[in-house]
Amino acid sequence: MECEGSKTNMCLPDNASNRGQDRNRSVSKATKKPVIITWKSRVTQNSTTKPFVEVLSGRRQPAPPLWMMRQAGRYLPEYRAVREKAGGFLDLCFNPDLAAEVTLQPIRRFGFDAAIIFSDILVIPHALGRSVRFEAGEGPRLDPLDTPDKIAALSKHADFTALEPVYEALRRVRSTLDSGIALIGFCGAPWTVATYMVAGHGTPDQGPARMLAYSHPDAFEKIIDVLVENSIQYLLGQLKAGADVLQIFDTWAGVLPPSEFKRWSAEPTRRIVEGVRAKAPNTKIIGFPRGAGALLPDYIERTGVDGVSIDWTAEPVLVRERVQSRIAVQGNLDPLVLIAGGAALDRAVDDVLSNYAGGRFIFNLGHGIQPETPIAHVEQMLKRVRAYRS
Ligand code: CP3
Repeated sequence: MECEGSKTNMCLPDNASNRGQDRNRSVSKATKKPVIITWKSRVTQNSTTKPFVEVLSGRRQPAPPLWMMRQAGRYLPEYRAVREKAGGFLDLCFNPDLAAEVTLQPIRRFGFDAAIIFSDILVIPHALGRSVRFEAGEGPRLDPLDTPDKIAALSKHADFTALEPVYEALRRVRSTLDSGIALIGFCGAPWTVATYMVAGHGTPDQGPARMLAYSHPDAFEKIIDVLVENSIQYLLGQLKAGADVLQIFDTWAGVLPPSEFKRWSAEPTRRIVEGVRAKAPNTKIIGFPRGAGALLPDYIERTGVDGVSIDWTAEPVLVRERVQSRIAVQGNLDPLVLIAGGAALDRAVDDVLSNYAGGRFIFNLGHGIQPETPIAHVEQMLKRVRAYRS
C-alpha cells in the first residue's frame, strides 16, 4: 500500500471530510434518517480535536475521555432489535448498513468519545477460510486447528474481499461521526485469536492452545506468523477506511507464564505494531493484554504501544509508576460493579479516577460490558466521570 506522505497518518484521504459538524445533530447515512444526538456535549472545542486521540498523543485531558469495551451490544435494546433482523452474528458484522448503525447506537445514546467499529476478532480466521460460527448463547464455534498436519494446510493469505464490508462500514461511520469523536479499528492479538482457532471454542484457561504451543511450537508458530501478517494488512485497511486509532485485543494474555507471554503475546503484538507503523508511521495503537499484571511494564516496553488497556485486577502503584509514566492508560472499572450499581458503583468509579485520572487516562471498563447491565447504571457511571475535573 502506498503512503501519500501524510505525517499524521497513513493515507486517510477518504475520510477527512465532515469536519465541523454540529455535534448535536448528524445524519445517519446508514439508516438514511436524520439522527438527533440527544446527549449534550461537554466539549466545545476545535472541531478537529479528538480528546481521545490527544491522550494517546501524550496530552492529558482535564476530563478523561470515555468509552466502553463492547459498547455496541446486547445490553442495548436498539442493538437487540437490529441483531434480530440481521440473521446470524457474522451477517451483522458483514452488513455495512447494519454494522455502521450498531456502531453509532452507543454514541447517540451516551455521547462517548470514541466509537469502535462493530465487528469481531474472529473475522480473520473466517477470511483465512476457517469455518467460524456463532451459536446463540454458546459463543464462537470454529473447526479446531489442533494438529501439525491441519496447521500445515492453513492458508497464508486471508481473502480480504471477505472483509470489504468491514471497511465499508468504517467509511460510513467516519462520514457520519462528529469530528470530535475518534473511530477505533481493531483486531485480536495473534495469541488470543489462535486460542479460539486451536480449541474451536472458548475455554476457561485456553489449555488446548497452551498445550499445542508446548508440544508443537513450530506448528503453533506458523499460526502466529499467519495471524501477524494478515492482522497488519487488516489494520492498514481499517486505517485507510477511516479508523483514527487501533486497538489490539489480547483477552487471553494472562493465562501464559512470563516466558511464553513474551514469545506468544508481546512479540507478535510488537511485530504488528511495527508492521503497521512501517506503512502508517504515526498510528496510535492501544494494546489490551488482559491479565498481564506485573508483566505490563515489559509488555509496553516490547510492543511500543501508545496506550494500554488494563483490567480491574491491575495494581495501581505499579501502573502509575511504570506504565502511566510512559504511555496512556485506559480502564479499568470492573464490569460486574456496573451491574451491581448503587453506592458500590460510585465508590468503584471514584477509585478508578483517583488511581489514574491524574495522568494520561481514558476511562473505560476493565473488560467488555455484560449483556445484563442496566442502562441506568451506565448513565450513573457517565454522570460521575463527567463531573470529574482536575
Ligand atoms: O462494541 C464493541 O466493542 C465492538 C465489537 C466487538 C465484538 N467483539 C462484538 C461481539 C469487539 C471489539 C469484539 C472483540 C472480541 N471478540 C474479543 C476481544 C475482546 C473481549 O471482549 O474479550 C473476543 C475474545 C471475541 C470473540 C467473541 N465474540 C466471543 C468469545 C464471543 C461470544 C461471547 C459473547 O460476548 O457473546 C463473541 C460474540 C460477540 N462479539 C458479540 C458481540 C456484540 C455477541 C454476539 C451477539 O450479539 O449475538
